[in-house]
Amino acid sequence: MQVLRQKSPKIIKLTILMIFLRFLTLIWVNSEYISGKKIMLTLDLNLDHSNQEFLDNPYPIFAKLRAESPVVWDTKFQTGYSNGVGAWHILSYADIQTLLHDRRISSGIPPIDLERYPPEVRKFISQLFSITQKAMVFSDPPKHTRLRSLVGKAFNPHAVEHMRPRIQEIVDGLLDNLQDRTKIEFIQDFAEQLPINVVADLIGFPREDHHRIKNWSTSDVGLFGGAEISLESAYHSRIEFLNYIQEQIDRRRQHPGTDLLSALIAVQEEGDRLSNAELEGMVWSLILAGYETTVNILGNGFLAFLKHPEQLQLLRENPALVETAVEEMLRYDTTLILIHRIAKEDLDFKGNFIKAGQDIYLWLGSANRDPDVFANPEQFDITRQHNPHIGFGYGIHLCLGAPLARLEVQIALRTILQRLPEFHLAPEGYQRGSNPGVRGLKSLPLILS
Ligand code: HEM
Repeated sequence: MQVLRQKSPKIIKLTILMIFLRFLTLIWVNSEYISGKKIMLTLDLNLDHSNQEFLDNPYPIFAKLRAESPVVWDTKFQTGYSNGVGAWHILSYADIQTLLHDRRISSGIPPIDLERYPPEVRKFISQLFSITQKAMVFSDPPKHTRLRSLVGKAFNPHAVEHMRPRIQEIVDGLLDNLQDRTKIEFIQDFAEQLPINVVADLIGFPREDHHRIKNWSTSDVGLFGGAEISLESAYHSRIEFLNYIQEQIDRRRQHPGTDLLSALIAVQEEGDRLSNAELEGMVWSLILAGYETTVNILGNGFLAFLKHPEQLQLLRENPALVETAVEEMLRYDTTLILIHRIAKEDLDFKGNFIKAGQDIYLWLGSANRDPDVFANPEQFDITRQHNPHIGFGYGIHLCLGAPLARLEVQIALRTILQRLPEFHLAPEGYQRGSNPGVRGLKSLPLILS
């Protein structure tokens, strides 16, 4: 097993990944019997992306662990969060919900020990870390309560509903560009284009800048997703991105509009408002949080339809099923397959002694296939009525962008089915992305007929 204290560039990349978004953790699961009855998880850092079995299909592994050892301490796993050795893994729906309600576990990230890194990369790591400190997703109450309430005033159902015609316009425009094609690359030609345009529009960035914003986001996501991007180029891209965000904040302060950025600048509660640093962190994290997740849910969902043509046919015949279909896409192949927390104090969890400072990984992908909650959980069923999936998380950090993501995917699905009467997977097949923490596809080539 590789450890984070080794200072190879790849390991540094991994640590950066872990301190940024816990969603994007590169790990793989390898179940191992330690004693006759208890399964011990061994999580290994899979920087070579060699565990194709887990990437292809983690669900049989989840099913086995959930049945045999749903709360498990992995003695070997070393993590960049707590700088400790070992981590807890929680696999059942009920346990994950319980822990996400427990104020003794934290979303925060402890201060990073820069001394652990070579001098030439410290600048990058410290810059990266500084923005995570501003992100709401990494904060606990009362800071989180304050940020969420301020942002919630601007990013509300009205702001999302206001986006409906624009989302339709973006979807139509993307499909117009594909109309004479007999073959498309669904991920690049469609799934990657839609969310970045939607979120950039919502925030109020000028349209002519969307391409640059996509490149900056791709650089960030690529680094976290393990792409071969140098630390230095990622660092410069990040600086450019943050400078750009700052320019836009300044522009909107002088000339307010009707966009989310103007609303975020104006928002106030009992005399309180977002500081400039909080605004910058908020805008940056909205773009990152809303980008890859939505790309992946489109990719995973369309793949599920290709593998279940009878469900696709059912939806074509009953377009009114689009809402339950999108919920099933979110459940069946969850993109943020795990989230991370740290114990703030010692706690006894179902007879397991979780010590203060220990890392806890909550496997949303496993919870969404839990047979105690979902009937026939391994079945992709777009008519599913009881579907309380936790693909958007649960508790106080429940995804702020969930209504927007739902709207985007519903409009995309409905319009694609109207405009593309038939599509099937190209003979070369699809490729899975190499990040097991954020489940998605690298390519999904489709033949249109
Ligand atoms: C299908 C797409 C999406 C999925 C699957 C998803 C999933 C999630 C999950 C699981 C969390 C909880 C993280 C945790 O508890 O640690 C979360 C939080 C968050 N998401 Fe999403 N998300 C999606 C789209 C979006 C979009 C489009 C936006 C905004 C434009 C967004 C913004 C956020 C924010 C700001 C948080 C932090 C909320 C808080 O800390 O209170 N997400 N998301």
